[in-house]
Amino acid sequence: MTPELKLFLLTENCPLYREPFVEAKDDDRRLDAFQDPFWSIYWPGGQVLTRFILDDRERVFGRGPRGAGKGAPRRILDLGAGCGATAIAAKLIGPWQQVVANDINEVACVAVAMNAVLNDADIEVSWENLLERPPEDRYDVIFVGDLLYDEEIASVLIGWLENAHVRGARIYLGDPGRHGLTEDLRRRLRSLRRYSLPANVQRENHGYDTATVWEFAAGTKRLL
Ligand SMILES: C[S@@+](CC[C@H](N)C(=O)[O-])C[C@H]1O[C@@H](n2cnc3c(N)ncnc32)[C@H](O)[C@@H]1O
Repeated sequence: MTPELKLFLLTENCPLYREPFVEAKDDDRRLDAFQDPFWSIYWPGGQVLTRFILDDRERVFGRGPRGAGKGAPRRILDLGAGCGATAIAAKLIGPWQQVVANDINEVACVAVAMNAVLNDADIEVSWENLLERPPEDRYDVIFVGDLLYDEEIASVLIGWLENAHVRGARIYLGDPGRHGLTEDLRRRLRSLRRYSLPANVQRENHGYDTATVWEFAAGTKRLL
């Protein structure tokens, strides 16, 4: 959905795409690195979020020449960055002081770094699990693309996002309607835009045919 970005991805054109899944043994670090290679896919949530950034830059980042000027965001976080497309798009369209792509999977971080070079985007990469501590750093804008595939992650995420929101962050989520989009979370979200997904993305994602960009609006103010 974002042909303006170049990305190294695992696509139908790669022989590995059709290889049967091999269960990694505990002592096989090489295979272990490639278990659940979420970083090799550009997920629907990330695709719509990135499309939204590229199309609605002013809405996401504010007005002014390329979003610059008073009140313009300075620090931007892409949480669960995967292939890094969302962070890369954010970097390419603005003069932000810092764009951080964060993913707890170290192989994902390598993929992000390669994709950033491919697009000539100077972003920072971090693999710390930020959800394990309150969001001390002040991020002005936080993007969360397709991180709701696991209800456990989603339940931790809600409190963490509330904290970040209280600290002044604007938060955008992209999601096709996965398990983690619980009623509890839905109550804190405002739908901004729904996109139809291309046929190949639908095929790879169990038939989800749309994905939505949500803005997080905290319900109760709570600090961890
Ligand atoms: C389904 S992928 C989505 C990737 C990308 N945002 C996209 O939409 O294409 C979810 C990613 O979140 C990462 N992840 C899972 N838990 C995380 C956490 N606590 N902090 C940061 N990243 C996490 C996974 O390693 C994976 O790369």
